[in-house]
Amino acid sequence: MTAETVKPAPETNGAPQDFVPPYPHRFETLPPVWKLIGLAKKNFLAIWTESDFQSRLRSKKVINRELFVVNRPDVVREAFQTRHKELQRKSPQMRHSLEPLLGDGLFVSDSDTWTKRRKVVAPIIHGSRVPGFAPIMIETIEEKRADWAGLPDGSEVNVLAEMGHLTAEIICRTIFGRTLGKDYASEVVQGFADYQKHIDQVEIISLFGLPDWLPRYRRRSVRSSIKRILTVLDEIIDSYAQQKESGEDSVIGGLLEARDEDGKPLSRAAIRNEAAVIFMAGHETTANTLAWAWYLLSQSDRVRAKLQKELDTVLQGRTPAFSDVPNLPYTKAVIEETLRLYPPVPILAREAMVDTSISGKPVPRGSLVLVVPWLMHRSPKLWHAPDAFRPERFINPKAKKPNKYGYVPFSIGPRICAGLQFGMTESILSLAMLAQSFDLTLKDGTDVQPVARLTLRPGDELPMNVHARHP
Ligand code: HEM
Repeated sequence: MTAETVKPAPETNGAPQDFVPPYPHRFETLPPVWKLIGLAKKNFLAIWTESDFQSRLRSKKVINRELFVVNRPDVVREAFQTRHKELQRKSPQMRHSLEPLLGDGLFVSDSDTWTKRRKVVAPIIHGSRVPGFAPIMIETIEEKRADWAGLPDGSEVNVLAEMGHLTAEIICRTIFGRTLGKDYASEVVQGFADYQKHIDQVEIISLFGLPDWLPRYRRRSVRSSIKRILTVLDEIIDSYAQQKESGEDSVIGGLLEARDEDGKPLSRAAIRNEAAVIFMAGHETTANTLAWAWYLLSQSDRVRAKLQKELDTVLQGRTPAFSDVPNLPYTKAVIEETLRLYPPVPILAREAMVDTSISGKPVPRGSLVLVVPWLMHRSPKLWHAPDAFRPERFINPKAKKPNKYGYVPFSIGPRICAGLQFGMTESILSLAMLAQSFDLTLKDGTDVQPVARLTLRPGDELPMNVHARHP
């Protein structure tokens, strides 16, 4: 075993069998391309063979595009860190889906535009700013807690939608400030939901080689949802002057006041694009993480009891503050393990901008290079009992820490998620505050299956019953 292929030690000390959550069937051998395309359209997770999980670096020519799957820490490091310059461009599928709305925003841009924007935008949502955003998070989670407290015991809720609502409110109030965020949240959320519904069909054809210059068929409904979102964003930016007087902190404020290296402010379009990026990147990812965490907890009495014990002991029934987050290591481990098993962005795809190589293998310009957290996070070469739900693997001081290039729910290298600390803090606080007060059980007869289109979700809904806790 090399240093790159460390399996964190098992650490359940004789605890009963860990819960193994669902995953799609794994093929023994690769099905024909036509079948793969059909499967990928419905669910990206369903196309992998057993040996893909174990592989280090695989390549395959699909129609007229060379495809590389990079699946071990040393090669991930080479592709995303060392060869960042050559491999920084997002896949055509991602760009075609998101460019109509995000324009040249951080998530989809590359080269000079990306370098300049990253320098301006990343500090606005950086970890050092998170303590300032935490009170908004806590206030919004408290509202959700009050909503649930008002429900009769055992009421059914769609946890996926509930977490979507919570994280959308948090991100809206952080981007636009408390007042404007509250006023505009439902409009922004609706606009994005509409847009996503239209683009959710993966542009699978691009993935398999449709040339970039070919015009994409764009329905009128997509164009009108874009127009609606941009109009709202413009209104919010115009109202900012009023909000500024109230001395409130917000991402929009940061973007308006930001200056690039030449001392120039961002253009109106750039501000709009970056606000849209932060909403889009920060909303559904965190919502999916929380929904999966609730599902996993509902299926593991052992983990749920341990989490509740930590919350009751550390918080003693009070609402946590930002300063409590470091004292909730098991809660954090539950989130980390959730992100390992169900990474919200299960495929990180890049297009080679020039001829390059990975591990000595030539990678021609235009090839697609994929890092697939779904595969690497479940590789038996890297993890002990890879399909089991075992938060202890992130917390046991005796276990080797997962390799930072082998555990990549937030990506890695220069394009690593700019909201990593924000997303982790938001997830830990949301889970802590809601699990303090409620137990969630899965609705009887619900079959939960992971489905990945743009993000990885537990299907279209997650019906669960909410029970008040009386610790
Ligand atoms: C659990 C929550 C989150 C997860 C799992 C997550 C994951 C990711 C991943 C995997 C990427 C890179 C995608 C790629 O390489 O194709 C990314 C990028 C990004 N994320 Fe997050 N994210 C989360 C929360 C957030 C939040 C809360 C924000 C904002 C406050 C945010 C802002 C961004 C931005 C701006 C980028 C683009 C970075 C760039 O290209 O330079 N994310 N995120």
